[in-house]
Amino acid sequence: MLSLSGVRVAYGRIEAVRGVDLTVGAGEFVGVVGSNGAGKTSLMRAIAGVVRPAGGTIRFDGADVTGRKSHEMVARGLAMVPEGRMVFADQTVRDNLILGSYTRIGRDDPGIAADMDKVLGLFPRLAERIDQLAGTLSGGEQQMLAIARGLLSRPKLLVIDELSLGLAPKILDLLFPVLTALNREGLSILLVEQMASYALSVTARTYVMENGRVILEGASAQVAADPRVLDAYLGRRDAA
Ligand SMILES: Nc1ncnc2c1ncn2[C@@H]1O[C@H](COP(=O)(O)OP(=O)(O)OP(=O)(O)O)[C@@H](O)[C@H]1O
Ligand SMILES: [Mg+2]
Repeated sequence: MLSLSGVRVAYGRIEAVRGVDLTVGAGEFVGVVGSNGAGKTSLMRAIAGVVRPAGGTIRFDGADVTGRKSHEMVARGLAMVPEGRMVFADQTVRDNLILGSYTRIGRDDPGIAADMDKVLGLFPRLAERIDQLAGTLSGGEQQMLAIARGLLSRPKLLVIDELSLGLAPKILDLLFPVLTALNREGLSILLVEQMASYALSVTARTYVMENGRVILEGASAQVAADPRVLDAYLGRRDAA
């Protein structure tokens, strides 16, 4: 589904991503963890076509998409829920959702209506607030909206950057099962997550990034048991 080889991202002289290889298979649920500034967001922005990679190759759904712009990536089936959610605060929940379907408007209106029903079923809190301005939603509800908006492009791969940012555990206990259910239906998911314990428990495979590089990858259960991960991210020094 997605395959990165030697991907680099630079901002002027700052090298945020220094040659990353990463894959997400069809139907796979893959995590990326790592400390602040490791380059996770920069990598996701390269994948989604928001920044142009300074080097390397990105293949998606059978095509070389290196350097393609974000709108083309959406049309090809990649949806990104960006760090900080970026919902349109002064628009209603409904209008935010409609914006998510923009690549399909006029070409697949019955499909959009069906997907709208589906995402509102996944997130009943959004259904109750459909005419409310997105800026008045709680952080958790905004994250639900950002995910729902992404789903309305009917993606093959959903990329989520920092699902848990600023959210209470109670909300996360609502959100993670939705992702698991979507993945079981066949959606490929790439999840960047600071709360490593959550990410490692829901994903099948995990990459650990440090200083722009992947320092460890493997089955999530194996990564979770690695002393470096226990030490740095799971706060269980003694267990290591
Ligand atoms: N637009 C930018 N211009 C210049 N430098 C940037 C820019 N965005 C990120 N960086 C730098 O690139 C490096 C990687 O940042 P990035 O946001 O990708 O990391 P991250 O792993 O997502 O961190 P966090 O966990 O805090 O979200 C950092 O040193 C950061 O300061
Ligand atoms: Mg980030």
